[in-house]
Amino acid sequence: MGKTNVIEVNGLSRFYRLKSGEEVQAVDGVELMVPEGEFLTVIGASGSGKTTLLNLLGGLDKPTTGKVVVDGVEVSGLNEADLVKFRREKVGFVFQAFNLIPTLTAFENVEAALTPTGMPKAKRVERSTSLLESVGLKGKVDRLPVELSAGEQQRVAIARAFANEPKVLLLDEPTGNLDTVTGKEIMKLCHENSKKQGQTVVAVTHAGYVKEYTDRLLYMRDGKIFNKRPEAELEEPVS
Ligand SMILES: Nc1ncnc2c1ncn2[C@@H]1O[C@H](COP(=O)(O)OP(=O)(O)O)[C@@H](O)[C@H]1O
Ligand SMILES: [Mg+2]
Repeated sequence: MGKTNVIEVNGLSRFYRLKSGEEVQAVDGVELMVPEGEFLTVIGASGSGKTTLLNLLGGLDKPTTGKVVVDGVEVSGLNEADLVKFRREKVGFVFQAFNLIPTLTAFENVEAALTPTGMPKAKRVERSTSLLESVGLKGKVDRLPVELSAGEQQRVAIARAFANEPKVLLLDEPTGNLDTVTGKEIMKLCHENSKKQGQTVVAVTHAGYVKEYTDRLLYMRDGKIFNKRPEAELEEPVS
């Protein structure tokens, strides 16, 4: 191997205690190593624990047990202030629901991600413009999110996530609101961009078709990670 693992996950669990007293094992004893520059895709049905896992990787949630190390930093050990810094400097997120700021144009949405870095204005403008061009939005940079199609909004979200050249990119159902053709374009774009910038990527999805654009494929079910598609899922009708 020889490559450093940018993400190291050991014995990771996240249990939720429901009002009823029942315990939900959303993430259950996950071991995961992601080498530098790898694009990993985890496929799992709704409720299998994908979002919980990504939130733990990105420092948006705390584990019940186990640990997460990202780029040498133990995420679970950070205090709130360090977590904010960690998320800003090391992690880019892309969500199913795009999460763009509705009152800002495409350009401003991307630029807003660069503002806290202290980058000078002229450089921010140049970077935001070229990122939006690289995702195919030249000529649409001054539009508001409502003036863009779903696929175009996701392109803005991708440009924003790549803006700070984060070490790690976490994609939570990035194609969830898109038709298959657009979804494939978006995955291709993420894959190409991450190879250009050298990002380590974890994408989670229930859409099997995204596997064309990945380096490695794992499966998730009931909070656990599998190398092969779990049997019970095979028995489900494939449509
Ligand atoms: N805040 C929460 N409180 C209680 N249970 C939760 C919470 N968030 C998620 N869960 C449960 O944890 C499991 C995994 O959820 P999630 O990670 O969102 O799955 P996925 O993203 O694969 O759909 C599900 O059973 C879900 O109902
Ligand atoms: Mg989810």
